[in-house]
Amino acid sequence: MKYSKQLLYSKFERFWHWTQMLLVMMLTLTGFEIHGNFPMFGFEQAVRLHSAAAWSFMGLAVVSIFWMIVTKQYVNFIPTKNKLREQVLYYTSGIFKGMPHPTHKTMFNKLNPLQRLVYAGLLILIFPVQIFTGIVYMYYHYPQNPLDASGLTFAAATHTLGAFMVVAFVIVHVYMTTTGNSVSSNVKAMISGYEKETDPSLTEPSIQPE
Ligand code: HEM
Repeated sequence: MKYSKQLLYSKFERFWHWTQMLLVMMLTLTGFEIHGNFPMFGFEQAVRLHSAAAWSFMGLAVVSIFWMIVTKQYVNFIPTKNKLREQVLYYTSGIFKGMPHPTHKTMFNKLNPLQRLVYAGLLILIFPVQIFTGIVYMYYHYPQNPLDASGLTFAAATHTLGAFMVVAFVIVHVYMTTTGNSVSSNVKAMISGYEKETDPSLTEPSIQPE
C-alpha cells in the first residue's frame, strides 16, 4: 500500500511531551505517597522529589508557553465546534466499524475537536490549578504565613482533586494513543516526529479554529 509521511511534531515538541510525561509520572507517584496511599520513596524523600519535579514542571511550562507563542503552535489547542459531532460519532460508533477518521492531522491541526476540548481543559485549567494550589502548599509555614488553616485545607483538597483529574486524563490519553491509523502509529509519531498515512481518504481540508 502507498503511504506518505508528514512531519507533525518538532524536536522541541517531542522533548516537551516526553519530559512532561516523566515529570507528571513523578508528581503523581510522589504526590499520592505524600497523600498516604502507598509507600515508595519514604515520606521525606517523596516530599523532596515532589518539590524538585514541581519546579522542573513549572520551568518546562514557562519554556513551552514561550515556544507555543513563537511558533504559533497554540492554535492546536483552541476549541472548535467544527466536526465535533462527527468526532463524537466516530469515537462512539465509527471506530468500531473501521470507519475513517473524520479529521486529518497537520502541523497546525494536530488535535481533533474533542482532543482540543480535553487538552485545553488540562493545560488551561487543571495544570494552572495544580501549580497555584501547589505553591500555596509550598509557602504555607504555620504560624507565620498569612493563610489560615482552613485556606490550606481548601488548597490541599483542590490539589488532590486535580491529581485525580490528571490520573483520569492519563488513562484516557493512553487509550487514545491506540486509536490512530494503527495501534502504535500515534506513539511512533511522537518519537520520530513523523506520521505515516496509509488511508487515501484522508484528504479532506483541515479544521481551522473558528
Ligand atoms: C501533575 C501535577 C501534580 C500532581 C498529580 C500532584 C499530586 C499531589 C498529591 C496527590 C499531593 C498530596 C496532597 C494531599 O495529601 O493533601 C501533593 C502534595 C503537594 N504538591 Fe503536588 N501534584 C502536582 C503538581 C504540583 C505542583 C506543580 C506543585 C508546586 C507548585 C506541587 C506542590 C505540592 C506540595 C508542596 C505538596 C505538599 C507536600 C507536603 O506535604 O510537604 N504539586 N501533590
